[in-house]
Amino acid sequence: MDLTGKVAVVTGSGRGLGLAYARSLAAAGAAVVVNDVDAEAAEAAVKEITGAGGRAVAEVVPVGSAEAAEALVARAVDSFGRIDTMVTNAGVLRDRVLWKMTDDDFDTVVQVHLRGTFTCVRAAVERMRAQGDGGRIVVAGSPAGQRGNFGQTNYAAAKAGIAAMVRTWAMELGRAGITANAVIPVAATAMTKTVPVFAPHIEALEQDGTPFPDSLRKGEGFGTAEDVAGLVAFLASDASAGVTGQCIGIGGDKLALWSHPQEIAVAYADGGWSADAIAAAWPVSVGRAPETYGIPAPVL
Ligand SMILES: NC(=O)c1ccc[n+]([C@@H]2O[C@H](COP(=O)([O-])OP(=O)(O)OC[C@H]3O[C@@H](n4cnc5c(N)ncnc54)[C@H](O)[C@@H]3O)[C@@H](O)[C@H]2O)c1
Repeated sequence: MDLTGKVAVVTGSGRGLGLAYARSLAAAGAAVVVNDVDAEAAEAAVKEITGAGGRAVAEVVPVGSAEAAEALVARAVDSFGRIDTMVTNAGVLRDRVLWKMTDDDFDTVVQVHLRGTFTCVRAAVERMRAQGDGGRIVVAGSPAGQRGNFGQTNYAAAKAGIAAMVRTWAMELGRAGITANAVIPVAATAMTKTVPVFAPHIEALEQDGTPFPDSLRKGEGFGTAEDVAGLVAFLASDASAGVTGQCIGIGGDKLALWSHPQEIAVAYADGGWSADAIAAAWPVSVGRAPETYGIPAPVL
């Protein structure tokens, strides 16, 4: 994949998936603006990329606000002359069951993921439209946003909102040659280290490089951050010109296309539906095979 001459911003790329994306984009020839709230991590990432012969600069700012988004785009334009790809990856978790979730837990997660994606993409698209030669928007969804997840009201809401924005942007940005897609990753990072079934495998990998077993890489679609990075490089490239409005799953050895919500059962009643009529019809019509929800528990 050749990204020579292209310029990308990757939010939250001091570590984890974002770092893997930044490395992979730079290795393919793109110049990268590394963003993180952790200045040390961002500087280390830039040092590593430039040390390997790549082009990168750091912009340390908490994404969420319009000002931060504008600073990121300005950094790309000032340092490298343009912006071709915006990857919104920065994220935090504040997991709690609904009845214990505070306003702050909710707002913090929505601010970084949902508002951060909105503001960064808006700022990038403004510039891309002015440049006039297309662009690439790559955002981070999650299985939690696609399916719902216990203890993640805030995160599931933000990620579902991100998928909804992608579908909308694919419609709005097509004429300008700008694609918008969501990556739905599953990978070993700080964010997933504490999931009990994954923890011993991550420990073994970190200790002596023991690779994940097939049950994880294929069965659960769970691998390393590097396993996800190829999809981001593809979506940043000219090869993905016809791909837009999609939620694409990736992890370990697995690549997947997620469905979008659509009506799957319908029924009609002349003159409309009363509550009693719905109660009578529910078990034998649209309610016969209700949708499942939640991320299936890992089978290991
Ligand atoms: N790891 C997974 O399996 C998984 C699954 C689904 C979705 N995701 C999504 O992928 C993205 C990356 O996750 P990860 O697992 O690499 O997490 P991580 O915690 O390893 O890395 C997130 C990075 O974002 C940075 N960050 C946090 N808030 C920020 C802000 N306001 N501005 C800039 N940087 C900020 C952190 O400092 C950190 O470096 C997130 O959006 C996450 O929700 C991850």
